[in-house]
Amino acid sequence: MDKKTILCIGAGYVGGPTMAMIAAKCPDYKVTVADINAQRIAGWNSDRLPIYEPGLTQLVEKSRGKNLFFTTEVEKGIKESHIIFVSVNTPTKTFGSGAGKAADLQFWEKSARLIAEQSEEDKIVVEKSTLPVRAAEAIHRILQSNTKGLKFSVLSNPEFLAEGTAVADLENPDRVLIGSMISPEGHEALEELVDIYAHWVPRERIITTNVWSSEMSKLVSNAMLAQRISSINSISALCEKTGADIAEVSHAVGLDKRVGSRFLRAGVGFGGSCFKKDILNLVYLCETFNLHEVADYWEQVVLMNEYQERRFAERIVKNMFNTISGKRIAVFGFAFKADTGDTRESPAIYISRLLLNERADLAIYDPKALDNAKIDLGDVTAGIEYCSDPYEAVRGAHAIALITDWKEFAEYDYDRIFSLMEKPAFIFDGRNVLDHDRLFKTGFNVFPLGKAEMTHFE
Ligand code: UDX
Ligand code: UDX
Repeated sequence: MDKKTILCIGAGYVGGPTMAMIAAKCPDYKVTVADINAQRIAGWNSDRLPIYEPGLTQLVEKSRGKNLFFTTEVEKGIKESHIIFVSVNTPTKTFGSGAGKAADLQFWEKSARLIAEQSEEDKIVVEKSTLPVRAAEAIHRILQSNTKGLKFSVLSNPEFLAEGTAVADLENPDRVLIGSMISPEGHEALEELVDIYAHWVPRERIITTNVWSSEMSKLVSNAMLAQRISSINSISALCEKTGADIAEVSHAVGLDKRVGSRFLRAGVGFGGSCFKKDILNLVYLCETFNLHEVADYWEQVVLMNEYQERRFAERIVKNMFNTISGKRIAVFGFAFKADTGDTRESPAIYISRLLLNERADLAIYDPKALDNAKIDLGDVTAGIEYCSDPYEAVRGAHAIALITDWKEFAEYDYDRIFSLMEKPAFIFDGRNVLDHDRLFKTGFNVFPLGKAEMTHFE
């Protein structure tokens, strides 16, 4: 078997773009991406990729059919590849011990068993999915219990790409982290993976650790990023009460180089498939080791996030004369952030449900995420209109609730929007992306986040 053969199990948000980048940068490798979901694979093989990510189509087209292949034949892929990345989903457990917090590793274990069963030669297995610390050990045991005498090396290589900027993050990562087992085989495997990334990543940015540190670093990176958001969001609540302006506070605080300016934007709360899940993993891990104070500390980051989402919805109700029953509310944005169609854990889901509970009529618009929104709210039978045009969404609406920071929201004609709405017209800018003074002058009652409101009422 050619050693320069890579398989990735799981053609999702992580597996797909990561493999497309490796294929583009390493023309000497054959890269195959396999997934049990035939529809997803058909998408990867078509002009309409299953995920929206700026620059991804060009990247895939560069190598697809040359050294990049998408297939449903997982078994065949395993047989033919020397290095196997596993990038299957690891959702939060919904049942049994650890339900609501621990990671459900069933897909990972299934993949490991399949690798052990199908392999005919020694292989390197790379964890791309985020796994709780010490999961690699369990996986190694499963792999090593094969009866063919094969040797498997397990590496941890967590992904730090953010959606919306995945291609740029992969092209120019802050760091590539690879954890390996402490053994001669582990070291050899490590070198092979380092060589792959060294095709385009400066060597000093490829850092190597033991497997546990690598797994732990992924959880902690996401926990600390989320913690910054919860910290600034908690202060946004205080700003609304005191007349301080969260954007000014965040700017002033962020200029301190020790703090840094990024990830200090207050908003409706963080979403995405990783932050909440990874923090809950960390919390569960701490509880397992009886570190209750540590567990409570990190859990608070998630609780603060839920508070922020709830607070946004409650502010809408309170300021619209304590009732939104029967009122049309235009929801601007459903994705968990701009430049993606992904809605996993999007604050929009929770906020929409709270507004629907108050019997509002929602008119939801998002440039990329409407299909996912329909799935997320699939159980709701009345009170939602999905609009493919923002001007349609605002027609007859009493309020706009801006949830996602899509750039286009700032570019609309708000004079026209104002004229289409019921009066008094409200705007709740959950991301502070609009020109609030201008909107106020147009006639809107403006509720920025973490700043004093601007209303035309006496
Ligand atoms: C995944 C993990 O969920 C996350 O923990 C990690 O941090 C990065 O990788 P993502 O790529 O966003 O994230 O997941 P998703 O888009 O759900 O893709 C997983 C894919 O694996 C799906 O397409 C699914 O069909 C596939 N899969 C799942 C398999 O091919 N086989 C399985 O047994 C299970
Ligand atoms: C995150 C991590 O950044 C990435 O390294 C990891 O691999 C996966 O999880 P992602 O979920 O794609 O990436 O998006 P990210 O840009 O981190 O944003 C997460 C959430 O935080 C979004 O809902 C975003 O709107 C919110 N956010 C981000 C804020 O509310 N304020 C900020 O200042 C930054």
